[in-house]
Amino acid sequence: MEVVIAKDYKEMSKIAANIIRDQIQRKPNSVLGLATGGTPIGTYEELVRMHKEEGLDFAKITTFNLDEYLDIPDNHPERYLNFMKANLFDKVNVRPEAIHVPTNKRKGAEEFCAWYEDEIEKAGGVDLQLLGIGPDGHIAFNEPSSSLASRTRIKTLDESTIEANARFFDNDNAKVPKFAVTMGVGTVLEAKKLLLIANKKSKAAIVKAFIEGPVTSMVTASALQLHPNAIVVLDEDAASELQLKDYFKWVYKQKPDKYL
Ligand code: GLP
Repeated sequence: MEVVIAKDYKEMSKIAANIIRDQIQRKPNSVLGLATGGTPIGTYEELVRMHKEEGLDFAKITTFNLDEYLDIPDNHPERYLNFMKANLFDKVNVRPEAIHVPTNKRKGAEEFCAWYEDEIEKAGGVDLQLLGIGPDGHIAFNEPSSSLASRTRIKTLDESTIEANARFFDNDNAKVPKFAVTMGVGTVLEAKKLLLIANKKSKAAIVKAFIEGPVTSMVTASALQLHPNAIVVLDEDAASELQLKDYFKWVYKQKPDKYL
């Protein structure tokens, strides 16, 4: 696992966007796996800037989002499809038919999950998967105890996740959907490259756990340790509890091709 420590959120977002830009430039028809939450907003802002100012071209890109709330109304701003439109899709030239986001509808959700897996396979698999991390160590909505071999399916959200995401729902836990459709850990691990981003002091303990702790379904992000091509980009706050912090900085210093 490569761990890059940026000085702040802005730099973390720039590095992540640069890695995505490199992927798009190397392979213009890349399949991108995309994430939601507060963390990637800066990365998407930077990608939009690159599109507008540098002509970064999304015309041949295909996208698959990690997850979606179940039972959330179609027009709800926190529906992940709407979040993605507001932060990226409507601001770059990605083709609408190349966008894939899990269903928000309970009816037919199980069939949808199988279809989603097939679509990812038909697209040739995900080239680069962007990830955030939940306070309980989840990637996508793979809550603690999710099998590390799990596939796209319906998950019941942990109460701590509902609490953490209530800030997007008028700080009212009762308004947060209790279920989601999410790619599985096994699905995520099949991407050719993983890029996890995390910032803030509040993520420092869980960041330490997934990078330096055991591989365990209790912290599903720890499955990144099993991936041969995973990059983690942190800000100083999120990296603050890492035992190997100085080593990671030292390694990056020796790297000939920096991300920034
Ligand atoms: C949600 C999403 C995750 C995301 C996590 C962290 O639960 N399902 O994909 O990584 O939130 O969110 P934030 O980036 O807002 O901390």
